[in-house]
Amino acid sequence: MADQVLQDIKDRLNIADVIAGYIPIKKAGTSFKALCPFHHEKTPSMQISPQKQIWHCFGCGEGGDIFGFVMKYENLEFKDALKILADKAGVKLPQYKPQDKGAVDEKDLLLRINDFAARYYHEVLISSAAGKPALEYLKKRGMTDGTIKQWQIGYAPDNFHALEQALVKKGVGLNDLVKAGVSSKNERGQMYDRFRGRVTFPIYNYFGEAVGFSARILVDDGKSAKYVNSPETVIYNKSKILFGLNFAKEAIRKLDEAVLVEGQMDCISPHQSGFKNVVATSGTALTQQHLDQLGRLTKNLKFCFDSDTAGKAASRRAGEMALKQGFRIKIIVLKNAKDPDELLRSGPGLWEKAVKEAVWFLDYYIDLAESSFPTGSVEQKHYLSTDVVPFLGYISDPLEQDHYVRKISSKFLISEKVIREQIKKEKIGIAVKPEESGKTAVATGLLLEKEVLGGLLFEPGLFGKIKSEINLEDFENGEIRSLVEAIVRAGNVAVPGVKQAVVAKEAVFMVESQLDGLGGNTEALERELFKTFALLKISSIKKQQQSLQNDIKNAENLKDKEKIDFFNQKFAKISEQRIKFEEFL
Ligand code: UTP
Ligand code: MN
Repeated sequence: MADQVLQDIKDRLNIADVIAGYIPIKKAGTSFKALCPFHHEKTPSMQISPQKQIWHCFGCGEGGDIFGFVMKYENLEFKDALKILADKAGVKLPQYKPQDKGAVDEKDLLLRINDFAARYYHEVLISSAAGKPALEYLKKRGMTDGTIKQWQIGYAPDNFHALEQALVKKGVGLNDLVKAGVSSKNERGQMYDRFRGRVTFPIYNYFGEAVGFSARILVDDGKSAKYVNSPETVIYNKSKILFGLNFAKEAIRKLDEAVLVEGQMDCISPHQSGFKNVVATSGTALTQQHLDQLGRLTKNLKFCFDSDTAGKAASRRAGEMALKQGFRIKIIVLKNAKDPDELLRSGPGLWEKAVKEAVWFLDYYIDLAESSFPTGSVEQKHYLSTDVVPFLGYISDPLEQDHYVRKISSKFLISEKVIREQIKKEKIGIAVKPEESGKTAVATGLLLEKEVLGGLLFEPGLFGKIKSEINLEDFENGEIRSLVEAIVRAGNVAVPGVKQAVVAKEAVFMVESQLDGLGGNTEALERELFKTFALLKISSIKKQQQSLQNDIKNAENLKDKEKIDFFNQKFAKISEQRIKFEEFL
């Protein structure tokens, strides 16, 4: 992508506005502050600079420009963040050129095949004789023309090669049809259309691109599967896609609440009636990745899974996972309806009421304990201990947890102490996610490296003072290391290009903000920067010491006296250095 296009987009968008579209920000002098969305915090340590068009978090070390923010926040690849921001800025991205074969990546091709299939099936549904029965079926289920068009619902003709022929005519290769998931190959290598004689629901990704299909049989025959779905492909990962999220994301953000249902009809029906914050897991279990995506839009979930046993089990599992992630969860109770679609068909007002009257996840199970067993019975206590109290351990808010301990204690006459003991037991079972603890370590390391770079660029005098101590191996981040290397090689900080690097701009911004915090006292700033450098050295030396210890152990095993001495001397030397830097702190 030409740098000019990126600059164009940055020029037209204000970083503060873009970020304010995702999270609340507050003015602080010439910049803005916000609670960093990338780690847990109670006081805002994320800074946004409209002048520099960058953001930086002092808590976790993350930072970058608008593209970086959108990529991270929405969990996107660069090219997708670019699409969103170019659209916002009204900048036209250079057209994709078909003759430029090397640039056609597989994903694009598979997306285009699915997009073609969606439009093809839709056409068959709305304007061919073959589609008539399907259209009647959908109408009978209450679906409007507007809905059919918006979701591009279609009909796959009852023919083994209809879509295949249409796509081959467009020059698409047979293997790519299989890769896109729209065709299948039997054992004898013969191709056939995967979806035949079924109503097709395109499955869209976050951006509204069709990545696959779920296709429903018209008349349940008791033998065939009710729904046939696309397989997992390069563009369709079932554990990542939530059906309807492309249409629901804005409403979820605005209402600060998402409703989760099981089936696609359960998702489409509420949307048709104006309840647009609904998404479906489409028959698969809710995953961590689903929750990650939702969590960027809201922390408030309402579950409305089917009222059968499978739906109830799904609800429990999903609840456990979501509670651990800090979501607030309510359950929408279905009365006299097996699923949301059915309830909506008996009246949108009934759905609205059910959503409004949703009960807190834990209250739902407490009520269940109350209504399903004789009061005070052993069965009831057993149920509480196996099916209710464990959930309390997943509640991260101590006040809320306390509320439930008291409630269960007084309702069922169980001592609070017993309940708390059990929570403690359950809690031991919850493992801390290993990447999380690793991440903070990386973050602090990165923070130090960045701050040293910022210090060098902002306070050129610092370079002379630490020059002889700088060791490129102290910098683990490749980008920062190469910038520092350029400075070291040139012998001064005014190396062309260095200050223009995004990470360098962020680094300088960090130091500038630090100076603000110190009331403009440059001497104090220099002391702080020196401390930062010392911390970086110490952490780097610690790592070297660890690896030397390993080397020494190995040499001892081999009884290699020469090596043992060599490593020991090295160890002693860097230990001295470490002590010297520790004295600065
Ligand atoms: P349900 O059996 O609850 O169907 O499956 P439904 O959503 O009420 O469908 P309608 O109203 O009869 O049309 C819930 C979801 O599970 C998936 C589908 O995504 C469906 O929406 N499913 C179901 C399958 O993938 N395959 C099946 O054979 C059945
Ligand atoms: Mn249904």
